[in-house]
Amino acid sequence: KGEKMALPVGITLDRFIKRNQGAFQFASGELSQLLRDIALAGKIINREVNKAGLVDITGALGTSNVQGENQQKLDVIADIRFIRALKNGGEVCAIITEEEDEIIYTGNDDAKYVVAIDPLDGSSNIDVNVSIGTIFSVYSRVTPRGTKATMEDFLQGGRKQVAAGYILYGSSTILVYTTGAGVNAFTYENSLGEFFLSHRNVKSPEDGAIYSVNEGNFDDFYDYTQRYILNCRKRRMSSRYIGSLVGDFHRNLLKGGIYLYPPTPHYPQGKLRLLYECYPMAFIAEQAGAKAIDCESDILDVKPVSFHQRNSIYIGAPKMIEELEQYFKERG
Ligand code: AHG
Ligand code: MN
Ligand code: MN
Ligand code: MN
Repeated sequence: KGEKMALPVGITLDRFIKRNQGAFQFASGELSQLLRDIALAGKIINREVNKAGLVDITGALGTSNVQGENQQKLDVIADIRFIRALKNGGEVCAIITEEEDEIIYTGNDDAKYVVAIDPLDGSSNIDVNVSIGTIFSVYSRVTPRGTKATMEDFLQGGRKQVAAGYILYGSSTILVYTTGAGVNAFTYENSLGEFFLSHRNVKSPEDGAIYSVNEGNFDDFYDYTQRYILNCRKRRMSSRYIGSLVGDFHRNLLKGGIYLYPPTPHYPQGKLRLLYECYPMAFIAEQAGAKAIDCESDILDVKPVSFHQRNSIYIGAPKMIEELEQYFKERG
């Protein structure tokens, strides 16, 4: 006889956040509220993404962002939705996003936090029904409350993040975040409209057998990166690459793998953006026992100088990153 379907019992994201309010950074309840606001924005974007094929919101908008990328309609919709949710929530004084050149002021100058976001990650997957995501990174402002936030609030460096996370709109929608006390994941239950704790204290496998890189760029990589990839092939590892950092990172985090975005002539500093792609993923990785580096240092130690700066990134299971580091050492 058939097994009983498991009912979505368990801890909702709201309850989980409340239970952890004892931790010092939650004491005032403001960060808790901010995380709930982000979850709400995630639900709204999830709704838009789900109906994307039916209404006229797929495809290009005909505009480009500050980085010269063609904006997709959903890039801009997600951007608007996210900003609105954070404005209404009241806990954030300023935002930077991939889709806007400068700081966005929410009008809540008294608020304690600033947020950097990639509202819609993996834009090239929108029209073809493949996984996309949202990435966020949160700092406590360094400027006094009641004043206007400045660049300084955003350029504190990866180690100063107080929270970071992502939402993956995949075969199910899942929100994964850390506040520096481990990583937890919450799966969205559509009919109830709630995120439920589905992966407690996520830990990366020590080692893995998946490598994720845009191998079409292989000929442009430095020889030591090429040698590492050739070794992955020789060992018959699985090559998996969606082209959406959130999806690629999430798979590797659960199954054990490495994601690489090395520099290329087209992107001499690497393609991914430090503040709203590399830093938050690196924070989550470290909290899950994985590692994130570029050729020089840990990603979290890279010095931020501008909002949209790019950085190369190698992120994944600790043993895989350590092996890659051996190849970097050989470069002389
Ligand atoms: P975004 O859609 O937010 O601009 O990010 C795209 C990024 C990242 O998600 C992905 O891993 C990478 O670009 C893919 O780049 P390639 O197409 O060059 O492989
Ligand atoms: Mn983009
Ligand atoms: Mn992105
Ligand atoms: Mn994006």
